[in-house]
Amino acid sequence: MSKNTFMMIKPDAVERGLVGDILKDITNAGFKIKALKLTQLSLSEAKTFYAIHSERPFFNDLTSYMSRSPVVAAVLEKDNAVSEFRNLIGDTDPSKASEGTIRAKYAISKGENSVHGSDSDENAKIEAEFHFSGREILF
Ligand code: RTP
Ligand code: MG
Repeated sequence: MSKNTFMMIKPDAVERGLVGDILKDITNAGFKIKALKLTQLSLSEAKTFYAIHSERPFFNDLTSYMSRSPVVAAVLEKDNAVSEFRNLIGDTDPSKASEGTIRAKYAISKGENSVHGSDSDENAKIEAEFHFSGREILF
């Protein structure tokens, strides 16, 4: 298992001033921040990032939402980082997310759910390299 995962704080959470609270939850859960930036996806970058969902009915809503305002992107380190981070953020649908998870605490809806977490070691590497150059990731 890799020690790294990739995450984003999504537009709904950045818009509501939740960056500090969410980063605090992440570091309190034992993750080390290895790369961090505020950035904004263009519509075409959002379509590339979420290309796996291109045939899904929510694809247009998802990509317009993810490109409408800035996101915070980060590479995080912890043992079993991918699964540990997905446990910390909770279910995609905040009404189903366990109490205390980031989505249960902050998400607005299944679409606007405040955080992204990579779903595999392979995708964590692809997504980290999408957002960060080698010199921006501190190993
Ligand atoms: P993510 O990739 O953002 O970490 O979320 P996830 O794995 O929990 O969920 P995924 O199935 O990969 O879906 C990606 C994102 O698409 C939006 N979505 N909307 N309205 C809907 O039914 C719906 N389903 C998914 C969410 O923003 C979800 O996080
Ligand atoms: Mg996903």
